[in-house]
Amino acid sequence: MRIGVLTGGGDCPGLNAVIRAIVRRGVERMGHEFVGYRDGWRGPLEDDHRPLGVPEVRGILPRGGTILGSSRTNPFADGVEGGAERIAENMDAAGVDGLIAIGGEDTLGAASRLHDEHGLPVVGVPKTIDNDLSATDYTFGFDTAVNIAMEAIDRLHTTADSHHRVLVVEVMGRHAGWIAFHAGLAGGANLILIPERPFDLERVCELVGRRYEAQFAPIVVVAEGAQPQGGIPAELDAGKDAFGHARLGGIAHWLEGEIEGRTGKETRATVLGHVQRGGTPTAFDRVLATRFGLHAIDAVNAQSWGKMTALRGTEIQLVDLSEATRELKTVPESLYAEAEVFFG
Ligand code: F6P
Repeated sequence: MRIGVLTGGGDCPGLNAVIRAIVRRGVERMGHEFVGYRDGWRGPLEDDHRPLGVPEVRGILPRGGTILGSSRTNPFADGVEGGAERIAENMDAAGVDGLIAIGGEDTLGAASRLHDEHGLPVVGVPKTIDNDLSATDYTFGFDTAVNIAMEAIDRLHTTADSHHRVLVVEVMGRHAGWIAFHAGLAGGANLILIPERPFDLERVCELVGRRYEAQFAPIVVVAEGAQPQGGIPAELDAGKDAFGHARLGGIAHWLEGEIEGRTGKETRATVLGHVQRGGTPTAFDRVLATRFGLHAIDAVNAQSWGKMTALRGTEIQLVDLSEATRELKTVPESLYAEAEVFFG
């Protein structure tokens, strides 16, 4: 078979490990041929691809980012005419028998529609630092992001205590607070604010004050999508992207002003941003990404179209793409309550 591979959405550590595993097993054990589509769904839409063989995947296991490039191109976006038909025609013309789409909710949501509504032969691999895809216990990239954020929190503790400042650390997570929750718990944050739970500013300030009573300075970890009760402050509303998601960023700086104004304590914001998505993957993410790649090429070989690899416990299983993209996996109330023991 001739198989196309693409990576879509925000890049994340481990994408190259998946590509390497697919190609190594697919070429060396199964005799398949591969093309790499450039920049997510833009590649098959515009017929932009290049050969992807064993030489191209040598040495990429520890490399962050994606050798194929990525984009947030949505083949079903308003203004994209006949996206699914164009992809089918371009695949035909290039002699591509099937696609492996590596992505998050948006890329896989498009993959699911291309398969279910247009009959295209697609297998999905879940990736996102946000860990918010249901149907899989973990996505690769998440562990690396959490470790980067935890290390930053560890470092911020010493400067917060030395200067008796409140430090607010903004991490990624627009709909789900997984990174904030895990990094905050691992890093000993004094407060964790997540999108699933709109926060009460009075209570935030009360907990900040309580930390000073213990002679330590507070670290507040906030997910970019967290909001105060009553909704997102108007000044933080920065429009929408191609998939209709709000563009986020700015909650930490908003909190900086609010906390300092209300408590009188010097408050500073640190926004980790894309640092969380960059660099080499952790061992956990390399292993998970590699296993996803191996199982994805097995799925293609068996022509199990419309499926996605998923981690269930320690097993990799295949699940329907439509099931995987139906709803987001968010931080449950009971889990959040475990971290509340350490607040204040
Ligand atoms: O989906 C992954 C992610 O890193 C989110 O956590 C974040 O909201 C978003 O991508 C940022 O996207 P961009 O890099 O396009 O600004």
